[in-house]
Amino acid sequence: MARDLAVIGMGKLGASMAAAMASRGHRVTAVDVREEAVEALNAGRAPVQETDLERIVLESGPRLRATTSHREAILGADISFVAVPTPSDDRGAFSLQYAGWACREIGRALADRKDYHLVVISSTVLPGSMRFGLLPILERESGKRCGRDFGLCYGPAFIALGSVIRDFLNPDFCLIGEFDERSGASLEACYGDVMPDRPPVHRMSIENAELTKLAVNTYVTTKITFANMLAELCERLPGGDIDVVTRALGADARIGSRYLRGGLGYGGPCFPRDNQALGFIARALGSGADLAETTDRFNRQFAERAVGRLRPHVAPGATVAVLGLAYKPFSHVVDESQGLYLVRALSRAGVRVVAYDPLAAEGARAELSGHAVIFDSLAEALAQADVVVLATPDPAFRSLGATDLLAGGKATVTVVDFWRVLDPGVARQPGVRYVAFGRADSPETGAGSLATLWGGAGT
Ligand SMILES: NC(=O)c1ccc[n+]([C@@H]2O[C@H](COP(=O)([O-])OP(=O)(O)OC[C@H]3O[C@@H](n4cnc5c(N)ncnc54)[C@H](O)[C@@H]3O)[C@@H](O)[C@H]2O)c1
Repeated sequence: MARDLAVIGMGKLGASMAAAMASRGHRVTAVDVREEAVEALNAGRAPVQETDLERIVLESGPRLRATTSHREAILGADISFVAVPTPSDDRGAFSLQYAGWACREIGRALADRKDYHLVVISSTVLPGSMRFGLLPILERESGKRCGRDFGLCYGPAFIALGSVIRDFLNPDFCLIGEFDERSGASLEACYGDVMPDRPPVHRMSIENAELTKLAVNTYVTTKITFANMLAELCERLPGGDIDVVTRALGADARIGSRYLRGGLGYGGPCFPRDNQALGFIARALGSGADLAETTDRFNRQFAERAVGRLRPHVAPGATVAVLGLAYKPFSHVVDESQGLYLVRALSRAGVRVVAYDPLAAEGARAELSGHAVIFDSLAEALAQADVVVLATPDPAFRSLGATDLLAGGKATVTVVDFWRVLDPGVARQPGVRYVAFGRADSPETGAGSLATLWGGAGT
C-alpha cells in the first residue's frame, strides 16, 4: 500500500530515509529549514552526498518532494519521521534543541488535523528525552493527547554513511520504542511496507529503545577498542601479531569477527559521542559509567600514543605524510577522524606534516589550517615524505609500491601501516622500512621484559 509520509530534516540521515521510502513506492514529503536543500531535492538533485541518493531522487519523480513548511508536510502525511540533529552539548548529552523546535512545528500542525497521526523520532536521543522532553512539547503545541489523538514512537536507524539507503532498507532488525500499542503497530506496519526482507522487529517501551540504540553503538566501539588494546599489547610480545589473534578470537561464536581488527581508533559523527552520552546518562541516574568512559578515553588518547610510537622513526627535520583524513575509506566526512587527530598531534610535537585523502581534502583543509599541507595528489604528498603513515585502510593506499614510496629521490622511507594493508612484498624492498601497527618488530621483541617477569619460575 502506498503511504503518505513526511521526513523532517534532510541531512545525512533524513534525505536518504526519504529517498529510500520513496523508492519503495510511497509518497514522501521532506522538510528542511535549509532552502538550498529543499530546492536541490525539488530540482532532482541530492541535497547531501550519499551513495545512490541522486539516482533515487531522480527516479522517484513527483513521489518525492520537499518543502520548508512543516505544516504542509504534516497535514499531508499519516506518519512523520524526525531526523534533525541532536548535537552533543558540553556535558556530553544529546541536545534536544533542534528536535524540540521540530516538535513545536509538528505540534502546531497537529492542532489542525482531524485524524490520527504518528510521530516517529529517528534522531538519536538519550533515555527520557522522548517522554519528558519532546512529548510535552507535542501535547502543549497541539492541544491534543498522545495515545488518543496522535501516536509517538522512537524509531532510530542503524546506518553507516556511504550505505545509508541500503542500511535503512535492510537492517539486521527494526527497533521500535512505542508510547502505546497503536503507535508501535502503526510503525511496524509501515516498516513492513518499506523494508523488502521484513527484518525482525523489536518493540518495547520508549526508554528501553532509547537505551538499546545507544547500547548498539557503544558495544561496537567497545569491541573496536578492545581489539586496538590487544594490538598495542601484541607489539610488545615476541612475534606478536594482532591479525593472528583476532582471527582466532573472532572464530568464537560468542565474539564474532566484525569490528575486531586492531587499527587506529574509531571516529565519525556518531561513534565518538555515544560513549560520552552513555557515561552522562549513567552518571546522572547514579549507575556505573566506567566502561563507557574508559572506552572513550582510550580512543581519544590513541593519536597521542600513536605519536609516541612514531617518534623513534621520525628524525629531526623529517616530514611525515599522513594518508587518510576521512574517518573511514570512501568518505568525505572528517568529523573526529583519527587522521585529523594524528596530524594535529604530530604538528603539536613539532613535526612537519603533509597529508592526502582521495575524497576528504576540502573538509580536512578547513580543520587543519596551520597543521599540515594537504595535497590533492597522492604522488605530491609521497614525494615530500620521509615517513608515510597509513591512517585508513583505503584501497588507494594498498597498491602503493616501493617506487611510489621512494618518490622524490629518497634513498629510504619508513612506512607506518596502522591497518596492515600494504603488500608484504613492499616491506622487503630495499630502502623501505616497514612498521606494522599490532605486530612485533621481531621474534625477540619484549623477550627481555618477559624474561625478567618469568625467568625466576621454579626457583
Ligand atoms: N549521520 C549518521 O550517520 C547518523 C546515524 C544514525 C543516527 N543519526 C542521527 O540522526 C540525526 C540526524 O543526523 P544527520 O547526520 O542526518 O544530521 P545532519 O546535520 O546531516 O542533518 C540534519 C538536517 O536537519 C535540518 N534541520 C534542523 N532543524 C530542523 C527543523 N526544525 N526542521 C527541519 N529541518 C531541520 C538541518 O538543516 C539538516 O539539513 C541525529 O540525531 C543523528 O545522531 C545520524
